[in-house]
Parts: sequence; structure tokens; C-alpha cells
Amino acid sequence: MYRTHTCGELRLANVGENVTLAGWVQRTRKMGGMTFVDLRDRYGITQLVFNQDKDATLCEQANRLGREFVVQVTGAVNERSAKNPNLPTGDIELIAERMNVLNESLTPPFTIEDESDGGDDIRMKYRYLDLRRTCVRKNLELRHRMTMEVRRYLDSKGFLEIETPMLIGSTPEGAREFVVPSRMNPGQFYALPQSPQTLKQLLMVSGMDRYFQIVRCFRDEDLRADRQPEFTQIDCEMSYVEQEDIIQMFEGMAKHLFKELRGVELAEPFLRMPWSDAMKYYGSDKPDLRFGMRFVELMDVLKGHGFPVFDNANYIGGICAEGAASYTRKQIDQLTEFVKKPQVGAKGLVYARVEADGNVKSSVDKFYSQEVLQQLKAKFGANPGDLILILSGDDAMKTRKQLCELRLEMGRQLGLRDKNKFACLWVVDFPMFEWSEEEQRLMAMHHPFTHPKEEDIPLLDTKPEEVRADAYDMVVNGVEVGGGSIRIHDSKLQAKMFEILGFTPEKAQEQFGFLMNAFKYGAPPHGGLAYGLDRWVSLFAGLDSIRDCIAFPKNNSGRDVMLDVPTCLDNKQLDELSLRTVLKASDKEQIQ
Ligand code: AMO
Repeated sequence: MYRTHTCGELRLANVGENVTLAGWVQRTRKMGGMTFVDLRDRYGITQLVFNQDKDATLCEQANRLGREFVVQVTGAVNERSAKNPNLPTGDIELIAERMNVLNESLTPPFTIEDESDGGDDIRMKYRYLDLRRTCVRKNLELRHRMTMEVRRYLDSKGFLEIETPMLIGSTPEGAREFVVPSRMNPGQFYALPQSPQTLKQLLMVSGMDRYFQIVRCFRDEDLRADRQPEFTQIDCEMSYVEQEDIIQMFEGMAKHLFKELRGVELAEPFLRMPWSDAMKYYGSDKPDLRFGMRFVELMDVLKGHGFPVFDNANYIGGICAEGAASYTRKQIDQLTEFVKKPQVGAKGLVYARVEADGNVKSSVDKFYSQEVLQQLKAKFGANPGDLILILSGDDAMKTRKQLCELRLEMGRQLGLRDKNKFACLWVVDFPMFEWSEEEQRLMAMHHPFTHPKEEDIPLLDTKPEEVRADAYDMVVNGVEVGGGSIRIHDSKLQAKMFEILGFTPEKAQEQFGFLMNAFKYGAPPHGGLAYGLDRWVSLFAGLDSIRDCIAFPKNNSGRDVMLDVPTCLDNKQLDELSLRTVLKASDKEQIQ
């Protein structure tokens, strides 16, 4: 037997017992004739004591231990004279009597502690060592508990967990696909699923009624803190349901997860906000509602007073930051720099301070009388001490998005984006389509299988851009944690949708014939949703990036620096797959 206990287990109740532990050497300290070793495993740390006077050879052996050596130690549990209240095992120590070095270790390239001295790149290269750190391991433990709770909840509601294939064809979710060449079918490719969308719909045609899968999805898109090229969905589908049924079911699941994993009871139904309101008041389809600063439109108050920037604008809007009138000139200049950054893209920022006496002082005072500035103040219901920040522009949607960035930044600066506070909402009534400049055509905002709102179906022929969808997203603290829709289950409506999206009947048949044909065999009304598991875990763990809750994530260039992939294939492999790579000069440089 390698061990009788784990390194996190022993307490005062064990004093006097003879035990054997196994683990990694976290740290060795020599103090006079004593050597102390912190022995670590997944469960915790136990202090080992080696006494020179008792056993000089054993103590010598302990002095030679390097960091991350793997050892097995037998000895007696002793009550510590100097207890460590920060450690669950801090009341006891193990007086070593025998030690077996199970394996040596090179000196690790960074310290295996919560406050590690290793930078991001080196920790990712040696991710297996990074995962030994408690703070990282905890995220994987939370992830495990979350998948267990998800299964428990969905099982209790009669969902079946069903696996679907990874080697499939195109599933248009708006990103590029990762493709896999087929050796047995030269010149032909599979695509890895962006989601199992069409397959779960087929399972509804099969009568499975309630399906779920905790499933890896693949999307070749630009990476951000909340996006990985491979990520995990909690993918669900239900038959004979309306939007309300799905919202109830998955709001229930969210509340279950909050309760079981965070100890937070969310009694009230989640807020529901139409997409158009989310865009109008927060400039985003995923508003962070942990704080206010709702947008106020100011065209009626501020246009027509001779200030050219506003007079020429098609949109003027602002936010009111409570208590921020104390911002210094320098802080406001920094905010101006912030909104001018290319990622935000505004031309400038106008501010108005509400002073202690109620007067308003603005950066464009010469154009506005105190009377107009008082109207501005009234629009926001602003109080002395508040700071009003205003942006304007030609394009309302663009300017709102800029204002959204400013709102989030102010929320951050004022400490309003507290990671221990949760604001959950459903964004509903999404538009069915959005115009793609790149493709010069309408694209499905959610995906092409989404049902239009019944009352908007007549608009499909006349004003498709005004059609709303039976689609919904769940948003928590400004993060889209899930999304779904009621699906089309009628092959004729599905064919029409493809037509509006610019597919020829032949192309639609070639790509999605299997689905449209299936719909001809008694497809039930159905709908569903997929939660982003990585996003839920990072939200609950308070992480800044979903990378930290994935065992072996990719970096921002889509590389796994530990495995050093992707790599080139040799000619033999390329031949076998009937492939040739054609590289541009710049690509070649990148590879070298
Ligand atoms: P959608 O594309 O909205 O819907 O994806 C569902 C949820 O998956 C998460 N997500 C991601 N997480 C990490 N990295 C990514 N690159 C990434 N992309 C998406 C988000 C998102 O809300 N088939 C539909 C679902 C349905 O209609 O049932 C779908 O995939 O949390």
C-alpha cells in the first residue's frame, strides 16, 4: 500500500497513529538539527519532521530532497507545538521514521505555488506542472462538480445523455470550421461540429424527446478571453415545447447550479429583456446588469445649440456615473484616451459634472446655457457629485457600442463589477437576420434552424430584416452563458429560410438535405439551448479567462504550446491524404 492517508486528511484526532503518506515535496526547511518538509498531494499539505538526533541518516536523506521529488513517508502523527491556522492539517505534523524516494524531479521551471513566479507562456508549456498548483486544480475540481450537478439535474428531468459524432459535415453557426481530410475518400473532408445542432434536432425527429450532451465543439474564430477554438457545451433539446418551457427548464438548471456550487439562492424569476432594449439602453446584447448607468438619449436636449459635433450627429447618448464628479482632469483625460482607442473607436468624450450646489459644469459650457445643462441633469435624474459622460456619432448602433465600452470601463473603475455579485437575465426577441458586410447578404443571427416569431412570418417576404426570432440568450454579469431557440420543424419553412439566406435549392439540398428530408417524416415541434460550460465555470470561479478552467487550453493564436501543435505533416502523410499544402511566403516565415 503506497499510503494510508492523503496529505489533506490528518487532524488532531489522528495524533499517535502510525501512518504512511505519499506526495510531492513542496518545500524543505532546515532549522538546526531539524528538517521540515511540506508534502503535497491533490488533497492538501502535511508537514513532515526529520530529527537529526533521532535518525541522522534519514535526516540527511531529507536534506537531499529537491522540489517536486515524489516520496513515501511513514511515521507517527504528532500534535504541533507551533500550529498553522492557515492549513487544514496545521495542528499536526508527521514525525518521519522511514522514507522512500519514489521518483526524483528536475528543478521545476517555476514555483508550484498559488503565487507562482512563472509567466503565462512557461506555465502553459509545462501545463502539467501548472495543474499541480492548488489555485488551478481547484478550477478543474469545480468543473467536475458542475458537470456532475448538470447530469443530476437533467437526469431528474428525464433527459437522455446521447453522444453524437465528431466527424460530421458543415454546421453553420457563424464561425469557420475545422476540417479533417478523409484518407478513404480522397479529396473529401469531414468538418468538426461547431455544435451538434442538426444532430440533436434529428434526435427529436427520432422521438428521444429530451436530449442532452456535455460535448466538445470546435470553432475556428478569433480568440478572446471567453473564446477557445475547442470548448464544451451543455447541449440540450426538447420536443413539444414553447419558448416558455425551455426558459423555465434552463432557468431552473441555472438556479440549481448557483445553489449547489455557489450557495446562492436566486428566488426571483430572471429578468427578461428584449434584444432591442438591450441594444438601446446598454449597447450590447449581453448587458452587465450588476450596475445601472443605463443609456439616456440626448438628441432633444443637446442638438441645435451650435456645438458642431453634436449638431452633426445622428445619435447622442450618455451615462451618469454616480459619485464620479470627483474625477480629476487627468482621470477624465484618461477616459477620453480610452474611448479613442481603436478597439472603442469614438472621436471624443464630453463630460458634465454636477457640482455640490446643483450647478452643472461641462466641457462644452460655451455652447450650452445653465438652463440646458439643467435639462441634461434632469434627463438623468442626476444628483450633486455625479458625472455625466456623453458620446455622439453618425451611426447610432456604432455609438451605442462605444458607449457600452465606456459604461463597462466606468463600472470597472468604480468597483461595480463585483465578482461575487450575480446579475442574470434572458435576452429575448432577437432579430432573425443580420446584414453581413463581408458576405453582402443576410445571415441568420442565431442559426438558420431558428423559428421566426409566428406573428412575424408574413414579414419574411417583405421586410426580412424586421423579423424577430424565437431565440433567447442567458446572460450573467455581461457574459453570454447560453443561447438557444425554438426550431423550424416544417421542411417548407426551412427551405424558405435557406432561400432568404442566399442558398440555391440545390446547395440547401446538398448541405442540409438530410435535415429537410427528416422533417418530412413527422418532426415534432422542438427547441433547445446550449450552455457554455467553460463560461459557467469561469464565472463561478471568478476567472478572467476561460483558459484557466480548461486542463490543456490553446493560446490566443490557437496553439497548444505544450504539445507544440498544430504542426506540418510530412510528404508521406500528405500523399496518403491526397493533400498538398500551398504556402505563401509570409506563412513560411511564420512556420520557421
Ligand atoms: P451558440 O453559438 O450561442 O449556440 O453557443 C452556445 C454557447 O456556447 C458558448 N460558446 C463558447 N464558449 C467558449 N468558446 C467559444 N468559442 C464559444 N462559442 C460559444 C457560449 C454560447 O452561449 N447550437 C446552438 C445552441 C442552440 O441553439 O441550442 C449554439 O451553438 O456560452
